[in-house]
Amino acid sequence: MSAPRRLCEVRRAEARDIPGVIALCRKVYPTSPPWTETQLETHQLVFPEGQMVAVDEQGTIVGMAASLIILWDDYDALGSWRDFTASGHFTNHDPTHGRTLYGAEIMVDPMWQGHGVGSHLYRARQQLAESMGLLRIRAGARLPGYAEVSQTLSSFEYVLAVVSGRRRDPTLSFQLARGFHVFDVVHGYLQHDPESLGWAALIQWINPAVATPEDYGVSDPRLAAYMPRVAV
Ligand SMILES: CC(C)(COP(=O)(O)OP(=O)(O)OC[C@H]1O[C@@H](n2cnc3c(N)ncnc32)[C@H](O)[C@@H]1OP(=O)(O)O)[C@@H](O)C(=O)NCCC(=O)NCCS
Repeated sequence: MSAPRRLCEVRRAEARDIPGVIALCRKVYPTSPPWTETQLETHQLVFPEGQMVAVDEQGTIVGMAASLIILWDDYDALGSWRDFTASGHFTNHDPTHGRTLYGAEIMVDPMWQGHGVGSHLYRARQQLAESMGLLRIRAGARLPGYAEVSQTLSSFEYVLAVVSGRRRDPTLSFQLARGFHVFDVVHGYLQHDPESLGWAALIQWINPAVATPEDYGVSDPRLAAYMPRVAV
């Protein structure tokens, strides 16, 4: 296997990137690639700043991140990805009232995973939230390592083992290492994700520049020990 080429940049996605993003989706999720051309076009229309691509030095799309702004209180906390994203169309994007940047997608070409592209996309997303003065970034983390231990652990026990560092999950551990923490564990979040058995960890990064202590709450006291310390 040849060594991946050098990452060139993370930048705002443009209309010309859509075929490359579709090709990336097929590489990462060959059996059920997410996102249609129409959805990607709508994302760029409603919230251009929230759509990012990582590009190698030859201009190939090797990673992408898609976000929108929502007013979290408009939704059931146990809602699904479809609810938070208007079935993937982002037509619920609400920059006027919303204080939450919702991370609807992040993916990296398998040939490039483990080379810092995902971290780069996460940093760019965090900079966007900071520059817009948003309270937080929230997302649902898949739990791809859960299916293989589900006979012996509940989903909550699995998530606790990952947040405490006793287990490693390919997705959740990456997100925790980027400064996110888990505030709930929910079922039915993603419809087509057999590895997670329908479970997801709700994760958030809180912007310390605008947060108050009340913003650091979690649904279950067992998760509280893994929250960041609050400066009062
Ligand atoms: C989750 C995902 C986005 C992470 O992207 P990535 O590009 O592999 O992430 P990074 O390379 O930045 O970081 C992965 C690890 O590699 C390490 N790493 C960073 N640069 C590296 C390098 N040059 N060489 C080797 N390892 C490196 C990082 O330190 C990180 O380890 P850590 O989590 O223990 O800190 C990617 O694996 C992916 O697309 N998965 C499939 C889709 C998915 O599950 N998306 C999430 C939806 S909720």
